[in-house]
Amino acid sequence: MKSPAATRTKKPRAGKSLAGLEKEKKKLNEYIRDKVNQLLTVMGTKALDEHELDESDFLQLDPIGIIALSFEQVLEHLKETNKSLGVAKNQLQAVFDTAGVCISIVDSDMRIVNCNEKQKELLVSDRDEIIGHHCYEVYCGKESPSLDCPAIETLATGRPVLVREVKKKSRHFQIVTSALKDKAGNITGVIEVSMDVTEKKKAEEAMRQAEKLSAIGLLAAGVAHELNNPLGNILGYALLALKDPALQADQREKLEIIVEQAKKGSEIVKGLLNFSRQSQPLFEEISIEDVIRKALKNLSSRLLAQSVEVTLDIGDMPRVMADPKQMEIVLMNLLINSMQALEGRPDGLIKIAAGKKDGFLEVSIKDNGPGIPKELLPDIFDPFCTTKPVGQGVGLGLSICSGIIKKHNGSISAGSAEGAVFAFAIPLERKN
Ligand SMILES: Nc1ncnc2c1ncn2[C@@H]1O[C@H](COP(=O)(O)OP(=O)(O)OP(=O)(O)O)[C@@H](O)[C@H]1O
Ligand SMILES: [Mg+2]
Repeated sequence: MKSPAATRTKKPRAGKSLAGLEKEKKKLNEYIRDKVNQLLTVMGTKALDEHELDESDFLQLDPIGIIALSFEQVLEHLKETNKSLGVAKNQLQAVFDTAGVCISIVDSDMRIVNCNEKQKELLVSDRDEIIGHHCYEVYCGKESPSLDCPAIETLATGRPVLVREVKKKSRHFQIVTSALKDKAGNITGVIEVSMDVTEKKKAEEAMRQAEKLSAIGLLAAGVAHELNNPLGNILGYALLALKDPALQADQREKLEIIVEQAKKGSEIVKGLLNFSRQSQPLFEEISIEDVIRKALKNLSSRLLAQSVEVTLDIGDMPRVMADPKQMEIVLMNLLINSMQALEGRPDGLIKIAAGKKDGFLEVSIKDNGPGIPKELLPDIFDPFCTTKPVGQGVGLGLSICSGIIKKHNGSISAGSAEGAVFAFAIPLERKN
């Protein structure tokens, strides 16, 4: 078909019949209708009705005007569509950002295309640029993806992958990856959804720990009970034998070793019994300062012999409801541990501080010993966790402390920086 311009510039030849002119006009009319309708179809607008461009009107109508009008309509329509798309995008972004899970969209090269606020909060540390960077660099701190990365498997197979537990930036996550596909079904990227399960894991761990403790407690009680009598007999007979005036020096020395070892054994049994007794605290109003001073008095001769300096930093402390005997056991255990860690050091120092914090009374004991090895920290409150040689520790002290503090509805923690630091907190007000 000829273009309208070409048709328009073509003058009717002299002598051209009226019928010929009519035919030409009709063709031109159809051409314009077709083109306008094509344009409108491309732009997704309704085609022109007959009356909007009928043959009789054609001469009075301005075809360019019609197209311009159609453009105007199309533009109006686009504006409306854009506006609703904008609203939908904002709603989607709000859902994306407020979801309780971390969401990330990565392309087929594993570069981050988008991620939500939760993802940034939990998995991005101190960086402005995220978009366009590889997800394994930003979220996992690695230079290349690890072999078990679920996103890689999804990119390769197109199948969703669930990873039950992954540790990232000291938190635990459950991850699901699913493929992003284009219209043709090609994989163009991956959506990674990670759920923070750290608290759930902690609760499960606490439950396991409680079960383990109660089982060990039963066992310890049984063993301690069985050992108590024979140990008592050994000690009793050895002491009796020591009373014999006819004893030779070397015999006396051997008997004294038996007495000493039997006493050590009794100490261990006492520890086991303390641990297994699971006795409920007998609450009364106490001054934590009095308890700290009593524990220090009990240990004063050992502290002096070891030349360990002790500093006390206790503010104006209210009295609290606690079991004084159990609190003393906690303090004694922590102080003895510090003293053991300071053995052989001429400049041994133990700093004790107590204060109020967020409705709790907090006591910390810090020493300048060698500190606690990093790998020991997660298990340090477990029963029988010890680094001490046989005869010097059985690894029950801290688990007893932890049990007592928990029964006081408090918490206890261990840390290591230029020595060891232990801190426990119990509520200032006791709820019934
Ligand atoms: N102040 C500290 N400095 C360095 N390591 C410590 C300190 N306190 C505890 N530890 C470490 O924690 C371990 C567990 O302590 P815990 O008091 O439970 O048992 P223990 O002292 O070994 O034995 P027990 O207390 O039963 O005599 C210790 O063996 C030691 O390795
Ligand atoms: Mg100890």
